[in-house]
Amino acid sequence: MEISHKIINGDSRRMNELDDRSVHLIITSPPYWQLKDYGADRQIGFNDSMETLAINTVYCGDSVSLMERIAPDSIALSFWSPPYFLGKDYEEDATYDSWQNLLKNIVALHYHILKPGAFLVINIADIISFQDENMPRIMGMNPANRKCNVTKDMILKVQSEFPDYSRQQIASVLNCSEQTVDRRMNGNNIRGGKYAAGTHIKLVGGNIEKYACDAGLFLYDKRIWKKDPAWANCKWTTNTLKSVSETEDLYIFWKPGEYTVNRERLTANEWKEWGHRQIWEIPSVRINKEHPAMFPKELAYRVIRLYTDEGDTVLDPFLGSGTTAVAAIATNRNFIGIEMMKKYAEIATKNVKNAQQSQRLFSKPTMPKERLNKNEGVSVQTVFEIPQQKTVTYAAAAISATIPQPKE
Ligand SMILES: C[S@@+](CC[C@H](N)C(=O)[O-])C[C@H]1O[C@@H](n2cnc3c(N)ncnc32)[C@H](O)[C@@H]1O
Repeated sequence: MEISHKIINGDSRRMNELDDRSVHLIITSPPYWQLKDYGADRQIGFNDSMETLAINTVYCGDSVSLMERIAPDSIALSFWSPPYFLGKDYEEDATYDSWQNLLKNIVALHYHILKPGAFLVINIADIISFQDENMPRIMGMNPANRKCNVTKDMILKVQSEFPDYSRQQIASVLNCSEQTVDRRMNGNNIRGGKYAAGTHIKLVGGNIEKYACDAGLFLYDKRIWKKDPAWANCKWTTNTLKSVSETEDLYIFWKPGEYTVNRERLTANEWKEWGHRQIWEIPSVRINKEHPAMFPKELAYRVIRLYTDEGDTVLDPFLGSGTTAVAAIATNRNFIGIEMMKKYAEIATKNVKNAQQSQRLFSKPTMPKERLNKNEGVSVQTVFEIPQQKTVTYAAAAISATIPQPKE
C-alpha cells in the first residue's frame, strides 16, 4: 500500500484542497479563545469580532468570511447574481475552479442563515463562450468573408500535377498565400489566432443545484428572465451559427420549513402577468456606467415581492451597485448587502441612501408595527463603516477567507 503525507499551508475554514469523504480521522487542537496570538492575520479566536452583521448596512468585504457573521435563521430571502466567469474587473484573476469554489462556498453558507422555509434565488446565465483547451480548433467557414477564391479542390489538383511542389510553390501557382493553402488543406481556420483555445457553451445550473443540494437546500422552482436581444447587432453574430444570449436563469432554492403563500403580496393582475409565469420579460440595464453587470430593478422587485413580506430581511452577498438593497427599501424590506470591491460598495451606499430618501418622501411604511425592525423600521439606518478585507482574491484553488480589520 502506498503511503503519502501532506502538509497544506492554508486557511482551514474551507479546506477545498481535500476531496469529499477522503479523511478517516481528524485529530486537532484549535486556537483557544483569546489565549494566544500566533501572529497570523487570519488566526481565528484572537481579536476577531463576533458581532453579527447589522441589517440595512452595506458591507465591503469578502462574503465568504462575512456571511459567517450573519445571525442564524435570520434571512427571509437571499437574492443575488454572482460573477459569471466572464473576466470582468472583479473576477479577472479567477480560474474556473476558483470560481466554482466561490459559488460552492457561498451557497453552502446559506443553510445556517436562512430562516426555515426561506428562499435563495440565484440569477445566473450559462457561459456562452467557455474557452476549452481540448476543443478542436476549427471555426466555421464563412464564404462571405473569404477574400481568396482558392478552394481545397484547386490545391489538390495542383498537388496531383506537381507532387513535389512545396506549399510555397503551390501558393505561387494559385496566386494566393501559403496560409490560404494551409487553411484549405488542414481546416485550421482558427478562432482568435492559431493558439487560442476554442469556445463552447458551458451549463452552470447543474453545478449550482448540486452545491445547494449538498448544503441541504432543494430546487423549488426555476424561472427564466427574457432580456432584450442586446447583442443582435454585434459583429460576431455574422461569424457563427450560435444564437445571441437573450435569457438568464433564476434558480429558486428552498430551505425546508414552513413558508407562506400570501396571495396579497401581489395584485390579481400581477399574479396573472408574472406571479405565475415562468418567463419574465424585462429589458436589461442598457447603461452600465455605475457597474458592468447590474440586473434590472424590476427583477429584484419581483423576486422580493413574491418570496417575502414587509419587514423581512433580504440578503445580497454580491451587492454590486446595490440593486437588491434599493428594491428592498422600496418594498419596505430590510437588507444586508456585501460587496468585495470598494468602488462598487461606495456606489451601492450612495444608491441605498437615495432610495431611503425617496422612500421617506414618497411613501409611508405600511407594515404592522410588530414587523418593523428594532432600529427604525424600513428606511433609516445606513451604515457604511465597512471593514475592508485585507485579502479579496479567490484566484487560488482555496479561497482566502480573511478576517475583517477592526474599526479605526
Ligand atoms: C454580477 S455582479 C452583481 C451586480 C448587482 N446585482 C447589481 O445589480 O449591481 C457581482 C458582484 O459581486 C462582487 N463580488 C465578487 N466576489 C465577491 C465576494 N467574494 N464577496 C463579495 N462580493 C463579491 C463583484 O465585485 C461584483 O460587483
